[in-house]
Formats: sequence, C-alpha cells, structure tokens
Amino acid sequence: MGILEVKGVNKRFGGLQALGDVNLSVQEQTVHAIIGPNGAGKSTLLNCLVGKLIPDTGSVMFDGQSVLGRTPYEINQMGISRVFQTPEIFGDLTVMENMMIPCFAKRDGSFSMTAFAAVRN
Ligand SMILES: Nc1ncnc2c1ncn2[C@@H]1O[C@H](COP(=O)(O)OP(=O)(O)OP(=O)(O)O)[C@@H](O)[C@H]1O
Ligand SMILES: [Mg+2]
Repeated sequence: MGILEVKGVNKRFGGLQALGDVNLSVQEQTVHAIIGPNGAGKSTLLNCLVGKLIPDTGSVMFDGQSVLGRTPYEINQMGISRVFQTPEIFGDLTVMENMMIPCFAKRDGSFSMTAFAAVRN
C-alpha cells in the first residue's frame, strides 16, 4: 500500500473525458513524474489530488485517509502540497517567506508569523 493510492478515477467535463480509469500507487520517499501531451489530463489529475476538482468516480487515498470530500485546506494539512506550473507568490513576502509557507501550513493549520518576523530581522 503506497502513501498515495489512486483507484479508478474518472473525470468528465461535459462530453469530454479528461481522466479515464486512472490508477496509481506512490510509495513513500519516491519521486515520480506524470508526463503526457497537452490536454492529456495531467493538471486535471493533480487537481483531483489536491481537492480543486472532485472526481466523478474513484478514490484518492493519502496515508490511509480519503482526500475526497475534504477542502484543499484540509488536504494540505494531511500533507499534500502543490507548486503551480505558473508560480503564484505572495508579493509582499520575501522569497524565503514564500518558500516557508508550505512548511508552516501543516502546523495546526496556522502560520507562524513570529517565525516570519525572525527571518525578516
Ligand atoms: N475546467 C475545465 N472545463 C472543461 N474542460 C477542461 C477543464 N479543464 C481541463 N479541461 C479539458 O480536459 C482535458 C485535460 O486537460 P488538462 O489541463 O488536465 O491537460 P494537461 O495534461 O494538464 O495539459 P497541459 O500539458 O496543456 O497542461 C483537456 O482537453 C482540457 O481542455
Ligand atoms: Mg496542465
């Protein structure tokens, strides 16, 4: 059993089937890439993993718990973080602060602005 288990995931946008019976298993401490041509469904799959989209059918389990039905915020707290293809940053934070955000997001769901202040000084 991998830390991430995707089984039988389907996602349609109207008449277009973006994901058809996707199955994958990711073991802890391994690195994988999802590759495919434009429109293959890579972003749709990632969106289903992080709660931005809800699959029509199938299951997505992370560390033994279902991510389906949870908000992106809750899924992030479970330990899934996403970095976007087009970088989205907080313009009023430093580079270091932007990089620290995913680390702090898991801590009780609240950021430690004290830690940010320490980095600034
Ligand atoms: N919100 C949406 N509404 C309708 N169709 C969508 C939506 N999102 C994606 N699609 C369609 O689903 C298919 C898969 O798109 P997706 O963005 O997942 O592909 P991709 O593999 O990430 O492509 P790229 O390499 O261009 O990023 C495409 O045909 C796309 O047009
Ligand atoms: Mg994409």
